[in-house]
Amino acid sequence: MTAQALPNDLEPFWMPFTANRHFKKAPRLLAEAKDMHYSTPEGRKILDATAGLWCVNAGHGREKIVKAVQAQVAKLDFAPSFNVGHPIAFELAARLTSMVPGYSQVFYTNSGSESVDTALKIALAYQRAIGQGTRTRLIGRERGYHGVGFGGMSVGGMVANRKIWGPSMLNGVDHIRHTHEPEKNAFSKGQPEWGAHLADDLERLVALHDASTIAAVIVEPVAGSTGVLVPPKGYLQRLRQICDKHGILLIFDEVITGFGRLGSSFATEHFGVKPDLFTTAKGISNATIPMGAVFCRKGIYDAFMNGPEGMIEVFHGYTYSAHPVACAAALATLDIYREEGLFERAAELSPYWQEAVHSMKGLPNVIDIRNCGLTAGVELAPRPNAPPTSRGMDAHLKAFEKGVMVRFSGETICMSPPLIISKGQIDQIVDTVTDVIKTIH
Ligand SMILES: Cc1ncc(COP(=O)(O)O)c(C=O)c1O
Repeated sequence: MTAQALPNDLEPFWMPFTANRHFKKAPRLLAEAKDMHYSTPEGRKILDATAGLWCVNAGHGREKIVKAVQAQVAKLDFAPSFNVGHPIAFELAARLTSMVPGYSQVFYTNSGSESVDTALKIALAYQRAIGQGTRTRLIGRERGYHGVGFGGMSVGGMVANRKIWGPSMLNGVDHIRHTHEPEKNAFSKGQPEWGAHLADDLERLVALHDASTIAAVIVEPVAGSTGVLVPPKGYLQRLRQICDKHGILLIFDEVITGFGRLGSSFATEHFGVKPDLFTTAKGISNATIPMGAVFCRKGIYDAFMNGPEGMIEVFHGYTYSAHPVACAAALATLDIYREEGLFERAAELSPYWQEAVHSMKGLPNVIDIRNCGLTAGVELAPRPNAPPTSRGMDAHLKAFEKGVMVRFSGETICMSPPLIISKGQIDQIVDTVTDVIKTIH
C-alpha cells in the first residue's frame, strides 16, 4: 500500500447526498480499490458490500477494463456522435441489444439521471410521432428514485429529494402508490406473495386523468435507493397489462437492476415482463467510466423514421453520448460478465445470500428484511424523536469502522455487493452487520 497524500482542506468539495459538516469532521476516505475491497489512505481494508453505489458489479480494478480504457484513450480520446460516428459505439450497441431479445436500439447517456430523462423524452416524442400528442402526462410511483434531473425528480417519489423543489417540477406528473406494506409483506424472502393488486392503482389515475393524457409510467422493477422494495409476485405483469389496455408506455428504470444484479442480465428477463423502454447506467461499464443507455423495444425507433431523410429525427443527445473511452470500458465489462459467467454466479449465490441476510431476523430493532438477487435491505425501527436516518447512519458508520461498507437509506441498511463475492465474504458482511445492529440502541 502506497502512502496517500491526504487532503488538508475538505471544504471546497460540496459533497453530493452527504451530511457535509458531519463527514468533514470525521472523513471516511477511500484511496484504492481491488476486487472486493477498498483501502483507506492508512491502508485499512474495507469489504465493499455495496459495489460502490450499486455499480461495480464485476469488482474493482479489473485489469481487462483498465487496459481497454488505457488503449482507447491513446487511440481515440474523444469523437462526437452528432453527425459523425466512431466504430466501437456501433459495436457496443449491437452487443447490448443482442443481450435482450425484443430491443433493437440503445440511446447513450452518461448517467442514470440522464438515462431517465432520455427515456421520458423518448416516450413523449414517441406518443407524438404516432399521433397521440395529447399524451403528455408522466406517471411515477411513490418512493421511486429516478435520479436528480428535473424529469427524474418529478416522477420520483422520495420526499426528501422533492420537497425543496416542489413548484419547479414538471407539470402533469402523478404517482401510483408504492408496494411497501410491512403488515402484509415484512420478512418476505424474495418477491412478496401479497400485493399484485397494488398495480391497479394505475387504473385509479387513468380514471382521474383519462388514458388519452398519459404518455408513460416509469417504475424501478426493484426499488433500490428507497431501501430495496421488491415487487410482489404478479405486480409487474399486471402493470404491463394495464399499460397495454390503455396505450400507455411502460418504462423500467434498470439503473440498479441491469447487468446481473438480480442474477439475470436485466430485470425484464428476471421477471418476464417487457417494458417499452428501459434505462441503464452503473454496471454497463462497471462504473469505470460514466455511461448509461436507454434500451428501446422494436418499433420505437422506427416510429421516428418516417419524416424527410435529411432531417434530424430527435433533437436530443449529450456531448458525451457514446464517449469512446466509456464504450471501450463497457465492451471490456461485457466481456468479463460473459467470460466469468457473473450473472449466473449472482443467480447461484442468491439463495445463500437470502438465507444469510434473513438470519438477522430477530435482532434488536430489525423490523423487516427484504432481498432479491444480490440485493438486500435490513430495516431498523426509527428512534423516537430522532431524524429518520439516525439508526441507519449509525449502522453505516459502525460497519465502516469494522471494515465493511454498507449504505443506508432512511433506516434501511442497503447491501448490493459485487457479483464476484465469495460465500465467506457474504458471511463476513452478515456477521459484521449483525454485530453492528446489536450495538445500536
Ligand atoms: C433507479 C435509479 N435511477 C436513476 C439513478 C440515477 O443515476 P445517476 O446517479 O447515475 O444519475 C439511480 C441512482 O442510484 C437509480 O438507482
